[in-house]
Amino acid sequence: MYYGGDYNPEQWDEVVWLDDVRLMREAGVTMTTLGVFAWSRIQPDEHTFDFEWLDKIIDLLHENGIGVDLATATASPPPWAAKKYPGILPEDENGSTYWPGSRQAYSPSSPDYRRLAARLVTAIADRYHSHPAVVLWHVNNEYGCHLAYDYSDNAARHFRLWLQRRYGDIDTLNRAWGTAFWSQLYGSFDEIVPPRKSPYSVNPGGVLDFRRFSSDTLLELFVMERDIIKAAGASQPVTTNFMGPFQPLDYWAWADEVDIVSDDNYFEPNDPFSFRAAAFTRDLMRSLKPRTPWLLMEQATNVVSFRPTNAPKAPGQMEALSMQAVGRGADGILFFQWRQSRRGSEKFFSAMVPHAGLETRTWREVKSLGQTLSSLPAFPPKTTDDGEMGSGARVALVFEWANWWAISQPDHPVRLDWLALVQRWYSALHRQNIAVDFVHTGSDLSAYALVIVPHLYLLTDDGADALKEFVNGGGRLLVTPFTDIVDAEDAFRDGGFQVGLRSILGVCVEEFGALVPPPVRTSQDSAGAAVSTTISADEPGQRAAMIDAPFGVVRGEYVAEEIRVLDEQVVIDARYADGRTAGMPALTSRVSGRGVAHYLASVPDDAGMRAITRWLADLAGVQAVFEVASEWVEVARRGDVLTLINHGTDDVSLDVAGADFVTGEAVSGVVLGQYGWRMVRV
Ligand code: GAL
Repeated sequence: MYYGGDYNPEQWDEVVWLDDVRLMREAGVTMTTLGVFAWSRIQPDEHTFDFEWLDKIIDLLHENGIGVDLATATASPPPWAAKKYPGILPEDENGSTYWPGSRQAYSPSSPDYRRLAARLVTAIADRYHSHPAVVLWHVNNEYGCHLAYDYSDNAARHFRLWLQRRYGDIDTLNRAWGTAFWSQLYGSFDEIVPPRKSPYSVNPGGVLDFRRFSSDTLLELFVMERDIIKAAGASQPVTTNFMGPFQPLDYWAWADEVDIVSDDNYFEPNDPFSFRAAAFTRDLMRSLKPRTPWLLMEQATNVVSFRPTNAPKAPGQMEALSMQAVGRGADGILFFQWRQSRRGSEKFFSAMVPHAGLETRTWREVKSLGQTLSSLPAFPPKTTDDGEMGSGARVALVFEWANWWAISQPDHPVRLDWLALVQRWYSALHRQNIAVDFVHTGSDLSAYALVIVPHLYLLTDDGADALKEFVNGGGRLLVTPFTDIVDAEDAFRDGGFQVGLRSILGVCVEEFGALVPPPVRTSQDSAGAAVSTTISADEPGQRAAMIDAPFGVVRGEYVAEEIRVLDEQVVIDARYADGRTAGMPALTSRVSGRGVAHYLASVPDDAGMRAITRWLADLAGVQAVFEVASEWVEVARRGDVLTLINHGTDDVSLDVAGADFVTGEAVSGVVLGQYGWRMVRV
């Protein structure tokens, strides 16, 4: 179990370093991330490398038994680099330059940036690959943060090469993008520019490919650095820190390239429900690399400084959310940063050693968490019963970046905030403590009893085949509105909608039936469920379509799709109760092979999502990890260890029996106060 944080000794005099390592030992720190933003310190000019200070601090950490997650420092080129090679600076869609003076001002496609970065990484890797302090390599930092899309000339050249590789010839590209529309036919690849500022909607196929290209391009940088590190003889694992559900990067592809997934997570402490969003992110990180524990690489000990208002964490909240990460598969808890900066943009950002000193709650909590983590036994190896992920999940949610990119484009029947919707589907399950893995359609789905496909507008041919195979093999599938509309090129297939899944669903959509978007949810009930303001479905500008379902009346939002039933095997489970679509089917099921495929034609509100997921879980024979009456209590499984956490203000008693994971003592029932947690081996 790693414990520690980003350490920036270059901001401090050496005498402070001695204090740092002493305090690190006191706090139980086992690993620090070193050198993330130290490029200008390591390489003060193009021809000079200064490693003396880095040697010294790495040795000092090593002498004190503290491991190093050594960064390659390539996230922020020094000012001299931009002066000498102005082409390394990226541009936005208006052609404006992002100048140095902050951080991360580099064009990922710039050959000069790549050359300089490769040289730096080679120097670092050659020097430290066998240093016994180095336990992990930290490539760059938060790829894509602040700047994921570069529209510069370097990017344009690189994009064209990428397109040439993808399509081979320009006619194939023209067909894929549908450039016959609006006189966009290209004569050659040279005519193509990134989707820069244009008078109106830019070609959606082109925009989708630019998103793919941008994720791939940053990934090329990661792979370049990783390969340099490995070629130098390093045997330590290599990671780069992800940022949860970060739209620009297809983390499934990235997860294949990193040895360990690591994640940075800064939840809003003022939001009492942020623990659900945090759980969502933890489960996504765990799912990205099955069978491999991940690291919480960055979180805040207390306040952050990047929001307009930066509230402190409540006492105990940091520990509760840290244990949530451990319970959901993390093998390390780290912070940004070790010592609070005295100067610079993030000087108000909390740290393990606060500027306010050691007589602070933050420092006490940091020490206490260090102690707690060091007392945890190793997690038991995963058994086959736990599934590949050890979470025991028998429910999977499909999460695909290409769909997120495509569904977020304009000119659709209705604007759907895809991530928010997926998070709501996840929350519906999380509120019931039903374990969930995230998958993509290429994942092995055989371990799951229930797969939910949330609004998968873009469904590839292979994806459709995989979902059909899952159902025919005995799985239960829920297909939600606005799924299976376009192929990988963002084009309609021949024959209407749901062409990919039609054979198992037995239905297809005739009209999407957009509803007036639901009102912004401002209130929540005592259990944390959002409460929507009910507006009659018959009002002009229909907001909702009520659905009469076997599990109660459900309020459908965003769309009331009109679906056509295609064969007699389709069972209509629910119909619209009112409005334009009154009496029409709203939820169907159809047996296909050994399984069942459901189609849902409207987006339920939160209560409806809870009801339908409960109904489906029951039908699929899926049970909660642990049944708890209070929705403030979350329970996660990791192997045979349950982590129970109370995020609510009232004490809760839980009827759990087993052995305390830390002490080994018998447990029969636990009482948890606010932010109380317990790990119990069952
Ligand atoms: C991350 C970054 C850190 C620090 C932190 C707090 O984005 O990796 O260097 O800036 O956030 O804002």
